[in-house]
Amino acid sequence: MLLPLLLLPLAWGALAASPPVPPESLTLRVLQTIIFHNASSTDMEGTALLGDLETHSLACSTCKICFLQPWARQGLTPKEWQDLEELIYRYLSDFIRLVKALAAEEGEGYPIVTQFSIGCELHPNGSSRRFCDAGMNGEDFVSFDTDSGKWVTRQGNKLTLKAREILNYNKVVAITLQFLLRTTCVNQIKSFVQHGNESLARQERPVAVVFARAPPPAGTPAPVLLVCRVTGFYPRPVRVAWLQDGEEVVPGWWLNSSGILPNADLTYQLRSSLGVEPGAGHSYACRVQHSSLGGQSLLIPWEQSRPWGPGLAVGITLGVVAVAAVAVVLWRSRRRLKSSFLATEQLPAHLSAHVQGFPYI
Ligand SMILES: *[C@@H]1O[C@H](CO)[C@@H](O)[C@H](O)[C@H]1NC(C)=O
Ligand SMILES: *[C@@H]1O[C@H](CO)[C@@H](O)[C@H](O)[C@H]1NC(C)=O
Ligand SMILES: *[C@@H]1O[C@H](CO)[C@@H](O)[C@H](O)[C@H]1NC(C)=O
Ligand SMILES: *[C@@H]1O[C@H](CO)[C@@H](O)[C@H](O)[C@H]1NC(C)=O
Repeated sequence: MLLPLLLLPLAWGALAASPPVPPESLTLRVLQTIIFHNASSTDMEGTALLGDLETHSLACSTCKICFLQPWARQGLTPKEWQDLEELIYRYLSDFIRLVKALAAEEGEGYPIVTQFSIGCELHPNGSSRRFCDAGMNGEDFVSFDTDSGKWVTRQGNKLTLKAREILNYNKVVAITLQFLLRTTCVNQIKSFVQHGNESLARQERPVAVVFARAPPPAGTPAPVLLVCRVTGFYPRPVRVAWLQDGEEVVPGWWLNSSGILPNADLTYQLRSSLGVEPGAGHSYACRVQHSSLGGQSLLIPWEQSRPWGPGLAVGITLGVVAVAAVAVVLWRSRRRLKSSFLATEQLPAHLSAHVQGFPYI
């Protein structure tokens, strides 16, 4: 059993050519969650992400890899993907047995949740960083250090120390993991950068609305809160600013942002709010800058004529400099806006797949 494991990665090494490195640092990450309901029932779910793009999922009743992008099969032959599936299946089975044995020995109560984050990050200069971290019940459990080939832990409890000791006993796993992280993972990123270039270059334009939140009750001195809701953009980096009479509002208690949040369709959204003095006679606008806009900005003035409704005004300026002066108002897809707001809480379907009857259990 050990020999094929050793030979497997060596065969994969033959694939290493010199495909392109990414223009920005790019991470390939496998996230694997195992839920131990009790000593006889376990659920697993796995997913692979290139940056924020989901590329593979793993249905672990059989550990079959699902390819979620047309180019996700690139880099390995069908036989090598199959070998990888078998390897993952074997390692996960061993890990599950280990956790159950330790839980029984140490009297650890169920349920137990373990999470793995395994992968590598490739930099434009060709260097890479590797990681393999496991957590248990939300805390650090063990990590694999690819340089030393050893499992390490920052935790001092008996269960964790025992797990580390047992994991370090298995040199074959260590050598295989080192190879998978140093070579296979990095080669896969290069291959995906080459074949998935269109997906990686995907651009989705933001849609934005500005509205005022309902006025505070009479007699309260609170300022009016203007809200700029920006959604449907990809990739993630975005810059949203408020303009008062054409001048950018500086940060302070009057500004607030939700931070960038994911939508279910792999676009992002953000909400920025600005507290303003009611009736002070200033003009306000929300300015959005994003790579999809080709150097222009989206400028959405606050329509004071309809102060309390969700006044929609979506515009694109002719240039960043002229933002305050010229805005072309257009109506944009409301469907996309609506669906992306509604869908933020939904889990991808494969994540709810339950796994039964694991043969080693
Ligand atoms: C273990 O957990 C599963 C899922 O929650 C449940 O269906 C099963 O009855 C449990 N078995 C035992 C022995 O408690
Ligand atoms: C390559 O780039 C990364 C990230 O920018 C940096 O941390 C690393 O030190 C660089 N390595 C070399 C050899 O220049
Ligand atoms: C992706 O790569 C193909 C082939 O190398 C090339 O023809 C195409 O223009 C590239 N697309 C993008 C968006 O870079
Ligand atoms: C900013 O937003 C957070 C979260 O919505 C809220 O708790 C906080 O009070 C807000 N701060 C201001 C100054 O409005």
